Amino acid sequence: MLDQLNEIEKAALDSLQSITDQAALDAWRIAHTGRSSPLMAVFSGFGKLSKEEKPVVGQAANRVKVALESALEEKSAAIKNAALAKSIAEEKLDVTLPGRAVKIGRLHPATQQLRSVLAILAEMGFQVYTSREVETDEMNFQMLNFPPDHPAREMQDSLYVETADRGENPILMRTHTSPGQIHAMREAAATNPQNPPPIRIVLPGMCFRNEQITARSEIQFNQVEGLAVGEGITFADLKGTLADFARRMFGQDARIRFRASYFPFTEPSAEMDAECFVCGGKGCGVCKNSGWLEILGCGMVHPNVLQNGGYDPKRYTGFAFGMGPERQLMLRNKINDIRYFWGNDVRFLEQF
Ligand code: PHE
Repeated sequence: MLDQLNEIEKAALDSLQSITDQAALDAWRIAHTGRSSPLMAVFSGFGKLSKEEKPVVGQAANRVKVALESALEEKSAAIKNAALAKSIAEEKLDVTLPGRAVKIGRLHPATQQLRSVLAILAEMGFQVYTSREVETDEMNFQMLNFPPDHPAREMQDSLYVETADRGENPILMRTHTSPGQIHAMREAAATNPQNPPPIRIVLPGMCFRNEQITARSEIQFNQVEGLAVGEGITFADLKGTLADFARRMFGQDARIRFRASYFPFTEPSAEMDAECFVCGGKGCGVCKNSGWLEILGCGMVHPNVLQNGGYDPKRYTGFAFGMGPERQLMLRNKINDIRYFWGNDVRFLEQF
């Protein structure tokens, strides 16, 4: 009987060796450990054994059963591992390949410059106020002290939005961010008409002019307008603020100068130049040998404009300034053609 058990075990383990797939393993399990297997026949014949044989054969049969079961488990695991290894090999994943870079895009250079201008002015206490791009003649010109037919309108040829005839007050694309001054002052004054609060804001945004597009002029461009209104604000505050801005924008050693100028909505008016940061003031192509670059227009808010905004010009004064971020970028990077900005040529845009 014991010999027979050894043979059963040997035959089973031998035939297990050549098995490499799950189906064959299932067949093996039925043949060698199933109900009609030789091993089970030994168990069923147990009752016919003598009292002395029973414990010996019983122990041996159990040992064989455990041996076959653990061999089965081992084989089953081996088959699963082999299948996994095969599928990994078939996928041919080369883990040493470098990953594909994700393209994250970038901000438009004009937006980058606009944001750094705003960041500096925000640090200096100016709050961002956004205003509309489509305006009326009244807001874009009349409230800013441009009377109808005033020659200064020719400085800013307008793009009109076609609507029914509105007489003296047609709708147009704003030619500058200055009409935002009126909106902002009126909004602030409405909160307390007897005692309008002080204002310190920046108005960023796109402006539109009816221009022949050339290397030097575009029909659209950004401006950043600044406005401070309060009691006792003087031209010294304007100069101090803009000198500080220039140092933060162009560096601690930046030199600036103010030249008298004219805008209908400021009086007195000025333009601020910065010492040419390309040649350091010695004279070069960028500054046309003058050593200076024009950076912005500014001035003390005209009394009529304060009045139009709801601020009593006998009590309040203020200053305003307006600058072009694209122009600053052009000067800084020696970009000689403004058309690059809205031409959508990625070779240009990718440099920023
Ligand atoms: N709005 C003027 C322009 O577009 C710039 C400016 C703004 C000048 C504020 C003075 C004060 O040229």
